[in-house]
Amino acid sequence: MGNRTALEALTQRPAAFLRSAWPWRCVAYLVGSVLPGAAVGLGVIAVGLAGPPVGLLLVPVLLALVVPPVARFERVRLRLVDTVPLPSVPDRRRRAAGVAVMTVFAMWWIDLVMLGFTVGGPVLLILSPVVQPEAGPVLGAVAGVAGVLLLPVAAYTITAWGGARGAMVRAVLAPAGSELSEIMRSRARLVDAFETERRRIERDLHDGAQQRLVALSMTLGLARLDVPDDSPTARLLDVAHDEAGQALAELRELIRGVHSQVLTDRGLGAAIRDVAGRSPVPVDVDADELGRLPAPVEVTAYYVVTEALANVARHSGATRAAVTARTAAGTLAVEVRDDGVGGADPARGTGLTGLADRLAVVAGRLSVSSPPGGPTLVRVEIPCAS
Ligand SMILES: Nc1ncnc2c1ncn2[C@@H]1O[C@H](COP(=O)(O)OP(=O)(O)OP(=O)(O)O)[C@@H](O)[C@H]1O
Ligand SMILES: [Mg+2]
Repeated sequence: MGNRTALEALTQRPAAFLRSAWPWRCVAYLVGSVLPGAAVGLGVIAVGLAGPPVGLLLVPVLLALVVPPVARFERVRLRLVDTVPLPSVPDRRRRAAGVAVMTVFAMWWIDLVMLGFTVGGPVLLILSPVVQPEAGPVLGAVAGVAGVLLLPVAAYTITAWGGARGAMVRAVLAPAGSELSEIMRSRARLVDAFETERRRIERDLHDGAQQRLVALSMTLGLARLDVPDDSPTARLLDVAHDEAGQALAELRELIRGVHSQVLTDRGLGAAIRDVAGRSPVPVDVDADELGRLPAPVEVTAYYVVTEALANVARHSGATRAAVTARTAAGTLAVEVRDDGVGGADPARGTGLTGLADRLAVVAGRLSVSSPPGGPTLVRVEIPCAS
C-alpha cells in the first residue's frame, strides 16, 4: 500500500480506500481517546469531592500526573494514522506535553463526539429493527438500509478527522521547517561526490580494464593460430577467446550504461528514443523539438526515463508505456506513464528515491501518481535556462 498517512489514503479510489485498513485504523485511533477521557473524568470527580479551595489546588497536581503518560500515548497512537517516522527535534518533551494538554482539555471529547455521530448513527439505524421492534418491519428495513448506505460516508468522515487530528499532532510534535533545506544541501553534496566518482570509474574502466581485455582477446587469438585444429588445447582456446569477447562486450555495455553516448552526442530526445527502443514493453515517445539543453538537465532527465522505464518493465505488468518530454516557460517536463498495476512505493526500493536525490541537485521536482490498480505516472519538472 502506497499511503503513509490517513489523509493520503483519502485520495485513493473509493473502492480501494473502503477496502483498506485506514478507516479501521482511524476508528482505533479515536477510540483511544476513551483513556485520557477516563483520566479527566476521574480528575473532575476528585476535584469535585475535595471541594472548592483544595480542589482548585489539586488541578495542577493532577495535570502534572496525567500529562506525561498522555504525551507518550499520543506519540504511540499517532502511528495508527501516520506511519512516517517522527524526526527528532530538540524541544521534544515540551512539544509532547503541548499535545497532551490539547488532548486533555479539548481533543478527547471532540474525538468521542465525532465517533458517536459518524459511527454511532449508522450502527443505531442498522440495529433499529432489534432495538425498536415496535416501529414495524418496513420502517425497520428502511432504517437498516439507510444505516448500511451511511457506513461508507462514515468511513470517509472518520478518516478525515483521524487524519486531520494526526496532522495536527504531527505539526506540534515536529513542525516542518528548518531541517529541510539542510537535507537538500547535503543531498546535493552527496550526488556531486557520486558524479565525480562515477566519472572516475567510467574513465578507469575505459582506459584500464577494457584495454587489457582487448589485449587478452588478441593474445588468445594469436595462440589459437599456433595450435593444430584437432587438438584439445585448440577447443579450450576457442572457448577462452569467446569468453574474453563476451567479457569485453559486457564491459562496453556497462560503460555505456554508466554514460550514454547517444545522450552526449545527440541530446535528450534521441537518447529517450534509444532507451525506449530497447524497452521490452512497447513505448510511445513524444520528445521532438527538444533541442539541446544544459548537460546536467539532460543527464538527470535521462536517468529519470531509464529508471522509470526499467520499473515499467520490472514491476508494472503494463502492455504499453508512453514518454513525453517538452520544454515550456523555461522548464523541462518529462512524463513516463504506463497502463500497469500501479502501487509504486518509493519506500520499497532505491530507484525512485535516488531520482529524487538527483533532482534536488538541479532544483527539479519528481512526482509519482500510482494508485493501486494503476495507472502509474512519473513526472519531473526541471528548470532549464534555455
Ligand atoms: N511503474 C510501476 N508500476 C508498478 N509498481 C511500480 C512501478 N514503479 C515502481 N513500482 C513499485 O515501487 C517500488 C519502488 O520502486 P523503485 O524504483 O524505487 O525500487 P525498485 O525498482 O524495486 O529497486 P531499484 O532500487 O533497483 O530501482 C518497486 O519495488 C515496485 O514495487
Ligand atoms: Mg526501480
